[in-house]
Amino acid sequence: MRHPTPFTCLWVAVALLGPAVPSLSAQGAAPRTEGELRAFYQRSCIGCHGEDGSATAADGRKLKGRDFTSEKDMQGTTDQGLAKTIRKGLFFGMAMPAYKNELSEEEALLLVRSILRKAKKGEPIQTPASAMAKSR
Ligand code: HEC
Repeated sequence: MRHPTPFTCLWVAVALLGPAVPSLSAQGAAPRTEGELRAFYQRSCIGCHGEDGSATAADGRKLKGRDFTSEKDMQGTTDQGLAKTIRKGLFFGMAMPAYKNELSEEEALLLVRSILRKAKKGEPIQTPASAMAKSR
């Protein structure tokens, strides 16, 4: 049997993740806390951007995109620009889904500032136990 290409896998991921993501706070509930956004990152982003944000998924697949843990890669980016991309999505050979229905502008900015900007290579983005309990 022919193995599916990484691209196929990602398209499948988009198809599976898209409808499964809950859309609570973008529809007016209280904004998520940093801990809840960490849980959101783990649910929605690690498949492509990696547990630590280094653009390498846990199974070793490489996104070939920006490495959030690399100062060099992050040079020239703005918090607003990155937050906008998260909400709008992006097509770059393959698709980054749009999260505007799941994340408010405020939440996307908090995610960039307090999670992606602080990501360190080899250190999985952790979800505090309190946020795990809440996100259930
Ligand atoms: C299906 C795969 C996929 C998922 C899931 C995904 N992304 Fe992306 N993302 C991409 C691709 C592809 C790009 C474009 C390449 C790049 O710049 O890394 C991208 C780009 C980005 C960028 C812009 C980087 C830049 O170069 O300006 C940010 C920020 C980002 N993603 C954050 C997230 C966050 C946060 C989540 C979860 C809420 C997420 N992504 C989920 C595939 C994905």
